[in-house]
Amino acid sequence: MSAVWLMLLYLLTSLLVSLSDGACAEVDSDTEAVAGKGFKLGCISCKARPEVEASAKVSWYFQAKGENDYAPIYEYDEEGPHIIDERFEERLDWNGSKRSMDIQDASIYLFNVTYNDSGTYSCKFTRLLTYTFYEYETSVTKVVHLTVVDKATRGTASIVSEVMMYVSIIGLQAWLYIEMVYCFRKISAAGEEALRESANAEYLAIASESKDNCAGVQVAE
Ligand SMILES: *[C@@H]1O[C@H](CO)[C@@H](O)[C@H](O)[C@H]1NC(C)=O
Ligand SMILES: *[C@@H]1O[C@H](CO)[C@@H](O)[C@H](O)[C@H]1NC(C)=O
Ligand SMILES: *[C@@H]1O[C@H](CO)[C@@H](O)[C@H](O)[C@H]1NC(C)=O
Repeated sequence: MSAVWLMLLYLLTSLLVSLSDGACAEVDSDTEAVAGKGFKLGCISCKARPEVEASAKVSWYFQAKGENDYAPIYEYDEEGPHIIDERFEERLDWNGSKRSMDIQDASIYLFNVTYNDSGTYSCKFTRLLTYTFYEYETSVTKVVHLTVVDKATRGTASIVSEVMMYVSIIGLQAWLYIEMVYCFRKISAAGEEALRESANAEYLAIASESKDNCAGVQVAE
């Protein structure tokens, strides 16, 4: 019995601990940015042991398409954010964990994306875990492959489907119209025929009334 209680207590405490931690989840970054817009470069590294106190600093690196090396572009530590690379001057903003050096979300926001921004980004966490009697440093690196697309290319599929929609609507209406005209002609022709026939019939009826039945049958044939 007491073992069951201990088990329940343990489960409850671990649940509370994970809840108080804000339930960190390592969501992957988006990888497609639209030229001229802003883009959030996501990078999340959860602590393996949420209950252990830690502090982390973060470095971001960038390898442009066609280049061989990573260049440091951004750092975030106790002293705050620094943009290191002039290509990103005034274009990067911190989007990660706030008001704490216990960083688990190191996302950054890139303003006014250009085609030159496509390439590979990597973010490196250097985390110091503080246990009661010792400290332990860990390092985690994550990679984001960014593609920059044009507003137009993104919409190509929808433009094509829109055009197809109009074509089919116009096509359908034209077909309906043709069908209508055709039917109208047919109907009016039939109507005329019917009129003529009924006129004939009337004539015949009048005729047969005035003449004998045989004449009427002959004409109807
Ligand atoms: C990220 O930063 C940008 C620019 O400062 C801001 O507009 C945006 O709301 C931020 N997003 C999040 C999720 O913090
Ligand atoms: C982005 O570009 C627009 C228009 O070119 C400019 O007004 C704005 O200041 C730029 N934003 C940043 C953060 O560079
Ligand atoms: C992109 O890179 C090319 C070549 O380095 C440069 O000439 C051009 O000005 C850059 N464009 C932007 C928008 O930064």
